[in-house]
Amino acid sequence: MRTTLIAGNWKMNGARGRARELIQAIIAGLPSTPNYEIVICPSFVFLPDAAEALATSCVGLGAQNVCDQDQGAYTGEVAGDMLAELGCRWAIVGHSERRQLYGESNALVASRFAAAQRHGLTPIFCVGEKLEEREAGATEAVLDEQLRAVFEHQGAQAFRSAIIAYEPIWAIGTGRTATPEQAQGAHAYIRNRVAEYDDAGAAAELRILYGGSVKPENAQTLFRQPDVDGGLIGGASLHADDFLAICRAGDL
Ligand code: 13P
Repeated sequence: MRTTLIAGNWKMNGARGRARELIQAIIAGLPSTPNYEIVICPSFVFLPDAAEALATSCVGLGAQNVCDQDQGAYTGEVAGDMLAELGCRWAIVGHSERRQLYGESNALVASRFAAAQRHGLTPIFCVGEKLEEREAGATEAVLDEQLRAVFEHQGAQAFRSAIIAYEPIWAIGTGRTATPEQAQGAHAYIRNRVAEYDDAGAAAELRILYGGSVKPENAQTLFRQPDVDGGLIGGASLHADDFLAICRAGDL
């Protein structure tokens, strides 16, 4: 049985005081031993505060990206061991905003994925298609290419210590959520592809999160799909009540 994982991606939001308040409100609203796993991914600059606040809680800490290199002249980047030292155990890689706005290629994302694993961070590897790709019937081809880049870089067992997040780009921040059937279809496809590269047992254990306009009202229906193992939550993770309601929807 896969444990549902709810991850909050705060993106570039919040001020230091607001981030502290949000963390306190989330911790206060959670049961002491939830049946689901929770991770929050604040901005890099809030990680030290967050690590301190979360130290005795059940909430894990993740970064929103990680450098593909380990050290040196990489201005503006943050290395995996720096994140691990701060208490991060997770790192998002390949978010569509990184791919689309900052030109991160499949190859670069695969290197970032590798760097996360090298430093003991679990990658939360994001994949997903644009609206025109879905409308052209190319969703599976896009997912396949994104997955293949990681397999070619990291080998057939790449996803034994990783999470995949299916985030259709047209659903991110738009209020337009994938239907439970669309989400299930894409997740099942991803799981089958992983099974073809690795083996069926490992693919069955893999957690695949859905992201894209998850809200308290739609979370439970999405999480009840057989291949949906939780969510990567953007906007709603910035509101403690909404995020907590989504977490409770993960208590299946
Ligand atoms: P929204 O939940 O705001 O649509 O964002 C999803 C996302 O990009 C999480 O990484």
